[in-house]
Amino acid sequence: MTINDVSCYNEISMMPPYPIPKAAAILMTLLEDKGFEAYIIGGFVRDLLLGRFGGDIDMATNASTQQMIELFKDYPLSKIGEKLGTIGVKIMDQWIEITTYRSEGTSSNYRHPDEVRFIGSLKDDVFRRDFTINALAINIYGDLIDYTDGCIDLKKRQIKAIGHPEDRFQEDALRILRALRFSVQLGFTIEDKTSLAMIKSQDLIKTLPIERISVEFDKLIQSQHLEPLFKNYPELLKICIDFDPTHIQHIEQFSDKGLRYLCLLNHMNAEKIQNQLTHLKHPKSFVLKVSLLKILSEIKTQDRYTMKTLLGGYGKELVLLVLEYQKTLGMDGIDPLLMTELIKEDPCVSLKDLAINGDDLLKMDHQGKTIKVILNQLLELVMKDEIKNDKASLSQAVSRLS
Ligand code: CTP
Repeated sequence: MTINDVSCYNEISMMPPYPIPKAAAILMTLLEDKGFEAYIIGGFVRDLLLGRFGGDIDMATNASTQQMIELFKDYPLSKIGEKLGTIGVKIMDQWIEITTYRSEGTSSNYRHPDEVRFIGSLKDDVFRRDFTINALAINIYGDLIDYTDGCIDLKKRQIKAIGHPEDRFQEDALRILRALRFSVQLGFTIEDKTSLAMIKSQDLIKTLPIERISVEFDKLIQSQHLEPLFKNYPELLKICIDFDPTHIQHIEQFSDKGLRYLCLLNHMNAEKIQNQLTHLKHPKSFVLKVSLLKILSEIKTQDRYTMKTLLGGYGKELVLLVLEYQKTLGMDGIDPLLMTELIKEDPCVSLKDLAINGDDLLKMDHQGKTIKVILNQLLELVMKDEIKNDKASLSQAVSRLS
């Protein structure tokens, strides 16, 4: 079925025929010239219809992986997904994944199909997919093929599972989180039966490897429309992260991902935050960042010297983030006006900011550990505004100190 009814496109940005990216067109032509079918399918088509460009391209074909390997032998190939029917082809600096039409059987571990059955038609292939809006395909001529009424759901701006929602989630529990993620990324609602099935099947999420949960949740947390999501699916989302909803209404005000996680984990101390984010397999640097933000966010001060020690110890970026956090949550914390003034002054807050260094002290006949001691004493005096940070004042102070 090829859709030519233009009324379908009222609220969809693009009209057919859809533009086929050159790299995909080359591969589709190679396949079709040998008598195979080839379609672009999935997220790329969904996004194209919504006027969003540039995502990864996935294709579906009736060629087997062996036939693809033979046909694309002049291109760099990735065979990691070969058993599941997928070959990656690198063309014009991008990887395109091409998968043989398939219909999975049921999954005993809710993640990977127990058996992959390769089948004859695109129509059968689309019914194994997760959501109607992800089952749209376009052919080489730019015609849209829509067997699951995905176009209608794009218009309705809703996420709807294909067929029986519970079956889709049994096949792959990650789809429960994908539904949430797409809804916040696209600003779509989740169709009632799909939503009920997600809640009913939510415990299946526990069977997923933590890395997969974390990648999906990380995309979700960086999107918009989060407040209703956390209110509508609290138990489900608690399986992913032990969040506290107290400040959820503020989360979207933060563009920094670290502040978004802090907003969710504000009820924990720095150590617990570290454990939670480490459990979610976040990089060490990110775990450290959020736990330092937590420590800083609990500091209250109007004292200029203390503020300088914060700038020296935590760095300007973290301090600015915490000012934003405390202001947004209405917390009593680091005096924002005084701190902003201080930052504008670009004060000396660390040894590297001092207008004198170890070499200068060597020339003044100081040696070894004494140099470090003197430099630290000078830094303290400068930070307390007791001496100026210029070479003459510092040299004079050195003679007084030694
Ligand atoms: N798919 C599926 N079930 C999954 C994952 C993927 O049915 N658990 C199907 C969908 O048709 C999806 C396509 O495979 O559109 C490609 O999946 P993927 O690249 O992971 O996601 P996209 O839908 O392309 O979206 P995004 O790139 O934004 O993650």
